[in-house]
Amino acid sequence: LRGAVGTAHAKTILLGEHAVVYGRPAIAFPVASLTLEARAESIGSGLALHTPFHAGAITAEDDAAATREEHIAAVAVRRTLERIGRPLDGVGVSVTGLIPAARGLGSSAAVASAIAVAVAGLHGIALTPADRFEIVQSVERVAHGTPSGLDAYATTAAGPIWFEQGRARTLAVAESPALLVADTGVLGRTGVAVAEVRARHERNPHAIEAAMEGIADLVVGAREDLASAAFADLGERMNACHGVLSSIGVSSTELDALVQAARRAGALGAKLTGGGQGGCIIALAPSASELPALAAALTASGATGVWFVTDGEENA
Ligand code: PMV
Repeated sequence: LRGAVGTAHAKTILLGEHAVVYGRPAIAFPVASLTLEARAESIGSGLALHTPFHAGAITAEDDAAATREEHIAAVAVRRTLERIGRPLDGVGVSVTGLIPAARGLGSSAAVASAIAVAVAGLHGIALTPADRFEIVQSVERVAHGTPSGLDAYATTAAGPIWFEQGRARTLAVAESPALLVADTGVLGRTGVAVAEVRARHERNPHAIEAAMEGIADLVVGAREDLASAAFADLGERMNACHGVLSSIGVSSTELDALVQAARRAGALGAKLTGGGQGGCIIALAPSASELPALAAALTASGATGVWFVTDGEENA
């Protein structure tokens, strides 16, 4: 029991954010170019953690302050040990790699997931997918209140997923779409955005239900597009979805500007991704060979980070 490793990656929602909160389906992709690794080892006593956000002993106060980024990893170590019934003692964890936080990229779920695998592995335990999911969800509940579970699945999935009513399954894709994610550099505010949509839903349930139904239709259509590599149609659905998301108040000036810049640069479609009011956009290039030019155009328009979604691609 000298050491064990766990890995996870970022995720991005192609279509279906917010509507998924109202029971509709969503499609998410792993971001293969944004990964992190957790390494667990036996130490003399206590619990210790080294991450880009946190260095030193894990204390009970970490749980109390867990909504702050640096404490999410500490909670993940404790929750994993509790779940596998091992003492909260003698474990050191270090996390390397960085998924930018509060960008709709699933950083907290990825950190929790990588840590869960590493800490259980240190004790010779291979977590079942269900156990791993439960640990990640318990950390996500601390981080985000009422997570749908999409991040917990998507940050460990090997390929795109269809997520509906709390369940995920593998999505058939004829050919990889040429997707990238670009960061506005503004922190996303998923919790605020979800609460504001809920308030609108209480004031005007018919309008919000119609918007969610509209998004659901786009998600169902996108599944067909992906199965048949109909990327022009997929791009149009992404554009339409950004319009619906704007209409329910979850876009922002910066998101709209990057979406426009992507379309001007030749993207087949672009929309905000994740909770919104900051964070990232997702854009579809006509082909993989056109991703670098699209990335350059977005960087020139102010994107603070650009990551290719598709497997095997380098960071832009
Ligand atoms: O910002 P993210 O990537 O955590 O996405 C939030 C997605 C929402 O549908 C807005 C909320 C949720 O819990 O699914």
